Amino acid sequence: MGTTQPVTQPTERLLAGPPLDGRAEALHAHTTRLGALPHVPAVQMIAALEATGLRGRGGAGFPVGRKWRAIHDQPGLGVPVIVANGAEGEPESAKDRVLMAHRPHLVIDGALLAARTLGADRVELYLGREHTAAVRAMKGAVEERLKSDRKLLHVIEAPTGYVAGESTAVVHYLNSKDARPMLTPPRMSERGVRNRPTLVQNVESLAQVALIARYGADWFRDAGRGKDRGTGLVTIAGPVRHEGVAEIELGTPLAELVEMAGGLTGNPKAVLIGGYFGTWAPIESVWGMPLEPESLKAAGLTFGCGLVRIVDERTCGVGYSARIMDFLAAGSAMQCGPCKYGLADLAEASGRVAGMGAKATDLYDIGRWTALVTGRGACRHPDGAAQQMSTALAVFADDFASHADRRRCLAASLIGAYR
Ligand SMILES: Cc1cc2nc3c(=O)[nH]c(=O)nc-3n(C[C@H](O)[C@H](O)[C@H](O)COP(=O)(O)O)c2cc1C
Ligand code: SF4
Repeated sequence: MGTTQPVTQPTERLLAGPPLDGRAEALHAHTTRLGALPHVPAVQMIAALEATGLRGRGGAGFPVGRKWRAIHDQPGLGVPVIVANGAEGEPESAKDRVLMAHRPHLVIDGALLAARTLGADRVELYLGREHTAAVRAMKGAVEERLKSDRKLLHVIEAPTGYVAGESTAVVHYLNSKDARPMLTPPRMSERGVRNRPTLVQNVESLAQVALIARYGADWFRDAGRGKDRGTGLVTIAGPVRHEGVAEIELGTPLAELVEMAGGLTGNPKAVLIGGYFGTWAPIESVWGMPLEPESLKAAGLTFGCGLVRIVDERTCGVGYSARIMDFLAAGSAMQCGPCKYGLADLAEASGRVAGMGAKATDLYDIGRWTALVTGRGACRHPDGAAQQMSTALAVFADDFASHADRRRCLAASLIGAYR
């Protein structure tokens, strides 16, 4: 799947500039295009972030300004540490690595602004080691910076794995080289890396900050069609002409995103929005839906990491969902019972249903277990996995029923019909 190919379109801010051809924008070109990083007093910077309403783009959608203020307003707890989270362990999402591979200086600008605003003396650039183009671009960009900035910036090649990007796993890794979420997570704004106040911020969130510092909150809010403003990076995958990463105005309807991606190449049936922790919806219910956190939330859906994965009518939703569950079960850090055993049971049962070998109680058990594991882990891993599974059960209800009765796969029988 070509998810690392950027899909170019007009509303670009983060991805504006030279062609997205796999080459990183050099520092000279970056500053010629955008001007040098401005000096913004801390109080003003935080007020601007609050005025934008910018939410974190790593998945949880927490307001960025509030996170910065929590550290800023509690001096005396130690010199803060900034972590730019570029782990992107979500298998079908490519937005962070495309951003870093092409616009590394935007991410670094945002991280330096965080350091200056909060008085940090260390910036950890925590990058998924498997995203080699992004790592290479970020390392190269650090080398181009002034010596004083280079002393602050540290590239960390993060281990592969879904939970390695979870914020307490990130801090744990930086403290002890063990990328497992912490069982009793500390309050990061007080005690994180080296027991110091720590800001963990997704790399796209930081790149947005770099533009807000230059152009202000009103400019940021000028883009957007719904309550959540600005632009956002999304990854579109499935039966469209150009799978890949696009920058959209938040609130752009799914139909328009599909058009940007060159239109459909199949007959869509359902869509998974927000990543492997996300929510499935029937395509007709979301076709005109504004892609932004608030509107999606009102419909019981999630924006998450901005993944939009469409499946067509010839793709087995039961099999797709079971494979995701299998992946998430294998990605558990195996330290909380409900996550370790519950996700494994869900993966096995959904695998049996997908493979036409269901036990009589499997379907009932899957429904029951998704409720049982929710909220029962130290981190949100089981909650996300259960959310994906329970929405799949609803959206692919006929398919699950047909599989569970060991009758037939509705999608596979359609393939037959097309022959
Ligand atoms: C299992 C799990 C995996 C996560 N992986 C990532 C990741 O790869 N990148 C990321 O930015 N956030 C990830 N997050 C979210 C982080 O915990 C955290 O909320 C985020 O980095 C904060 O940045 P933001 O506020 O800018 O979104 C993950 C969360 C969970 C529960
Ligand atoms: S819920 Fe799962 S992934 Fe999260 S800390 Fe517990 S075992 Fe690890």
